[in-house]
Amino acid sequence: MSSDAPIGVFDSGVGGLTVAREIMRQLPEERMVYFGDTARLPYGSKSRDTITRFVRQIIAFLKTRQVKAIVFACNTASAYALDTIEKEIDLPIIGVVRPGARTAVKATKNKKIGVIATDATINSGLYTEFIQAIDPEIQVYSKACPLFVPLVEEGLTHDFVTEEIARRYLSRFKEDEIDTLILGCTHYPLLRSLIGRLMGNEVRLVNPAYETAIALREMLADKGIAAWPGTIAEGHHEFFVSDGAEKFRVFANSIMPQTIPETKVINIEKF
Ligand code: DGL
Repeated sequence: MSSDAPIGVFDSGVGGLTVAREIMRQLPEERMVYFGDTARLPYGSKSRDTITRFVRQIIAFLKTRQVKAIVFACNTASAYALDTIEKEIDLPIIGVVRPGARTAVKATKNKKIGVIATDATINSGLYTEFIQAIDPEIQVYSKACPLFVPLVEEGLTHDFVTEEIARRYLSRFKEDEIDTLILGCTHYPLLRSLIGRLMGNEVRLVNPAYETAIALREMLADKGIAAWPGTIAEGHHEFFVSDGAEKFRVFANSIMPQTIPETKVINIEKF
């Protein structure tokens, strides 16, 4: 696989852009092909079988773009499908759950970590498993926040409705005295200021995207497929969705460090 091939990055929608933008910041020489499965979102309420089928189709599509590695920029897909897919494909892949768990373990002082994520990610128990594999003494408190994804996709990141729902979800952590909270869905960093305000300064928020980009850099170096440092990928990324290209493009341009001039629609069911 050639080092100037792009990296495939995918999510159910705009959430994975929080990972893509971190990759752009930390690995500016790497080209990306991003896919958002906007026609079939949300993933968080679906079964393992369905998510695995979706991910297989996405991988088949990304392979047509000759990607050299794949980032599951989606906690749900990482929790439900990464293990299975890893055995099926010959490309290096990386998810967001393991790097997120690692960062949280490093961050906590009182060994009490909260996790907010989709129903699927919480039900998989994977964050708890990875955290306690590193330190069995850590207690993990989880809460599924299924309404956050549609609210973010609708652009309601600064809206009183979102604030009210966040207040209800996060009140779960009042008694637990957590000092660290994992934003265990790639959509949630887009609500970071609201979540931070409601949780207070004493709780450190962990966005797995940062550590994922570091782990990606290591994986590319390991495999000898990192792009040449000094080359600039800006303007050479490609963005695809399964529906609503213009809505996606407008949203993406409001949060990405680089302009996204075009988003194309593909029929993912064909793959
Ligand atoms: N952003 C994805 C995640 O990290 C999926 C959210 C969804 O589609 O429910 O879990």
